[in-house]
Amino acid sequence: MPAPHNTALPSYACPRILAGQKALVTGASSGIGKAVALGLGRAGADVAVNYNTKDEIAREVVEEIRGFGVQAIAVKADVADEDAVRAMFKTVFDAFGTVDILVANAGLQRDAKIDEMTLEQWKAVIDVNLTGQFLCAREAVREFKRRGVREGVSVAAGKIICMSSVHQVIPWAGHANYAASKGGVDMLMQSMAQELAPLRIRVNSIAPGAIRTPINRPAWETPEAYAKLMELVPYKRIGEPEDIAQAAVFLASDMADYINGTTLFVDGAMTCYPGFATGG
Ligand code: BGC
Repeated sequence: MPAPHNTALPSYACPRILAGQKALVTGASSGIGKAVALGLGRAGADVAVNYNTKDEIAREVVEEIRGFGVQAIAVKADVADEDAVRAMFKTVFDAFGTVDILVANAGLQRDAKIDEMTLEQWKAVIDVNLTGQFLCAREAVREFKRRGVREGVSVAAGKIICMSSVHQVIPWAGHANYAASKGGVDMLMQSMAQELAPLRIRVNSIAPGAIRTPINRPAWETPEAYAKLMELVPYKRIGEPEDIAQAAVFLASDMADYINGTTLFVDGAMTCYPGFATGG
């Protein structure tokens, strides 16, 4: 039984616009990453499902993706570990030959007031959310540069999608490490796009708002929390992981070929200053 505040997404037929492409999605054993991995597979891509701890769930995601008639593998790696990231890409190349799409999604929160935040909490978030995206993007770019455009597969030599957040622009008290990491992701993404565009490599971000995933469960799991959350969401529904998956499929596809160096906010207008709807 869905909760009363659950809003079903419209169903749609998914054209296989990523047929023949090879994708790697980090942090793909839950939440947004899992939905993105499934979405790319449904759109025809072969998908490597990166995870760090949840072996069993990653295997289930792989099985579900294979149900779309594409290849899928699970690859364990901590994206903050340079050697592990290198080994992960090698596993992907051994299985798929190359990679066309990287969705640098793995991320976490370690919330604390600034004066109570430990260096460990700060580092955990920066290491995974920002350094992890750099390490994965670097390996992907090395492969894109080596290989160039794959004729008949995509008009671009490679696509990187950085998973950012509305908190790349919305300051977030009690979550300074997280907001700083996402602000960093924005500049990492734009700088890479500027540097790599002449090579036909596209780099973009998706900035999700409040999406129904384990990372923010307390913000939506009770009707009271949900009502409070809706004060921040002009569209008056929580985002579902599939909302992000659809944006990722589009950005990864040649339909988005002229979109480079930008952030697609998928947030039900959360970044439109909802407090000003009635005030100011
Ligand atoms: C955070 C969530 C939060 C959302 C909107 C996301 O990036 O991970 O915890 O609900 O932003 O504030």
